[in-house]
Amino acid sequence: MPDTKPLVQIKNINKFYGKNHVVKDLSIDVQEGEFLTILGSSGSGKSTTLRMVAGFEQPTTGEIMLDGINVADKEPFERDVNTVFQSYALFPHMTIFDNVAYGLKMQKTPKDEIRERVMEMLDLVQLGGFEGRKPDQLSGGQKQRVAIARALVNRPKILLLDEPLGALDLKLRKQMQLELKRLQRKLNITFLYVTHDQEEALTMSDRIAIMHDGVLEQIGTPKEIYEAPASKFVATFIGETNLFEGMVSADTPDGLEISLESGTIRSDAKGFHFGELVAVSVRPERMQFALEPRDGFSLMGTVREQVYVGSMIKAIVVLPDGQEVRLERLAGDELPENGPVYLYWDPADARTIKTLDQVFFSALENAEMR
Ligand SMILES: Nc1ncnc2c1ncn2[C@@H]1O[C@H](COP(=O)(O)OP(=O)(O)O)[C@@H](O)[C@H]1O
Ligand SMILES: [Mg+2]
Repeated sequence: MPDTKPLVQIKNINKFYGKNHVVKDLSIDVQEGEFLTILGSSGSGKSTTLRMVAGFEQPTTGEIMLDGINVADKEPFERDVNTVFQSYALFPHMTIFDNVAYGLKMQKTPKDEIRERVMEMLDLVQLGGFEGRKPDQLSGGQKQRVAIARALVNRPKILLLDEPLGALDLKLRKQMQLELKRLQRKLNITFLYVTHDQEEALTMSDRIAIMHDGVLEQIGTPKEIYEAPASKFVATFIGETNLFEGMVSADTPDGLEISLESGTIRSDAKGFHFGELVAVSVRPERMQFALEPRDGFSLMGTVREQVYVGSMIKAIVVLPDGQEVRLERLAGDELPENGPVYLYWDPADARTIKTLDQVFFSALENAEMR
């Protein structure tokens, strides 16, 4: 992104709660106008990170810069950010209009301007005509739209959203995902969004930062993260995949040969060497099968299960060591019932990841040599 600059810079942040190290040397840049999502399971440190950007929590070490300025000694209200939480926290006794207008009134914005901006914002979140209602006369989705309108009405540079759709049912959530994305594009506001829902992250984000146990595992576009997971954790966390763990047994001009307990496989990865321990990730829709062995592959398994899901077949093939391999094929491309099949794939469809065990292995070897 050449003509953008980081609006939020999270620089080497650590956060301890007592002895509990919940955010570990975290660095993330959010570009101006970007929709960046922090994705991770519960307890991975997402909310803590967002609260530090908002100013509700202080980092133990590290810096946060907003628009190039270190905000360490800035109170939340002095930062050009607003936050939307999962709970709507609307004032129950006030009308929708007054809920959205609240911040502008506190800033002593002229009355005419307040009316104009509140009505414009309510239109944007598709609540034109609801301004006279009270919160308890709205559905959950409508209340969350009010909370979003309230957070956007004073035009912050940055909107922080902590699982804002978490309380909505699936259908409404999907609809709101698209609406939020549309709103973000239209207003060109930088969004830093937190969710544990990978599909939500893949649908909405320009880039995704995956956190696991306080650590940033990978940051990239949804496509990069899906197609080139940087770690075993990311490979299994995003979408469905098959992981084959083995050792590089040959590095040929046609790619790597990797030996597993159950046979040999191929990948076209570069930069690996003989003897290295790796995990190879192959998505179910990339898995192929044949009735005869294929060049460079010797992975034979038994078909255990096939189910039709619309026009697709989902199958499970069990390898001799018990590993279950998932395949997705188009209907008409059925696997033989219970029969043995040979699994293979286009080496370009495999992602090869160095496994951590390698580190322990070389540490062991080094220790033995001393
Ligand atoms: N105020 C707090 N005091 C002590 N521990 C906390 C506090 N807030 C969060 N934690 C702990 O920090 C870790 C990360 O929490 P959090 O950032 O809320 O994760 P997430 O939002 O990813 O679910 C958890 O182990 C949680 O129990
Ligand atoms: Mg949270």
